[in-house]
Amino acid sequence: MARIVITNRIPTEGVELLKAEHDVWMWDEEETISREECLRRIAGADAVLTLLTEKVDDEFLDAAGEQLKVVANVAVGFNNIDVAACDARSIVATNTPKVLTETTADTAFGLMLMVTRRFGEGERIIRSQTPWQWGMFYLLGTGLQGKTLGIVGAGQIGVAMARRAKAFGMNVVYCDAYEMDPQVAAELGAQRLETDELLASADVVSLHCPLIPAGQEGSTYHLIDADALARMKPTAFVVNSARGPIIDEEALVEALRAGQIAGAGLDVFENEPTVHPGLLELDNVVLLPHLGSATVETRTAMAELAANNALALLRGEEAITPVTQARRIRG
Ligand code: GLV
Repeated sequence: MARIVITNRIPTEGVELLKAEHDVWMWDEEETISREECLRRIAGADAVLTLLTEKVDDEFLDAAGEQLKVVANVAVGFNNIDVAACDARSIVATNTPKVLTETTADTAFGLMLMVTRRFGEGERIIRSQTPWQWGMFYLLGTGLQGKTLGIVGAGQIGVAMARRAKAFGMNVVYCDAYEMDPQVAAELGAQRLETDELLASADVVSLHCPLIPAGQEGSTYHLIDADALARMKPTAFVVNSARGPIIDEEALVEALRAGQIAGAGLDVFENEPTVHPGLLELDNVVLLPHLGSATVETRTAMAELAANNALALLRGEEAITPVTQARRIRG
């Protein structure tokens, strides 16, 4: 029997899969485990299931010990894991792609609708009991039909967002280090552009790339910085359901204040759970507390996939969804 530590609460379905074969300990509190407690609890674990709030670095791996075989992240993004440090110790890192694709694309699409149609603003008006009345010119938004969606990062979630946009009558352009599957690109009528061209032509720029730290090949850290924002149309919107640090939040606040772009829909932030105070003051911004994959069904599927990854590796089998080099760049 191996010892498995789950560093924060996950749906029971995933825990039960692990318990059927191994000795499992899970942090079962509402609030996130402290770093200190986490390092103490993972000592001696053969497998650890982590959430995106855990930083898996040398300190974490040292605390776990040499017997650790697998770090199964219950998230598709794995910027919280130092994969090179895992590689150096022959520890396999896994993530949870595919099972959250549609849910996360729904979140991105919801943000796009909320910000372009000013639904967030409208909701805030009613909740704050601000007087209002129907009017021909009251809270007019921007229609999406015939507009261009620029997808940054055309992996699974980017393509799922593009499909939704196509159904809404939008044109789709994308930028990615990789070409989209030609058949999918043809179906969507999606044209590949250089990043700068996409920024200059899109009416909505939606981010779906992984966060790759500064200094690493293909870095996406602050990909949307002051220069990138200056290239966008003053009528354009940016949507981020990927990772906060892909946008330079300070530059975004400046661009929004200056009317350099029309608005932003954000599910993720540079320093979660802190939100830049400048964003809170702006009406043309919709803010969600990192809800990308937050449905009962999807979180259950994520927990099960992470559990099955850990179980496969503990049985000496291949991981189902290891974090591979290609995926590190592509997401
Ligand atoms: C959520 O943000 C995830 O990466 O799964």
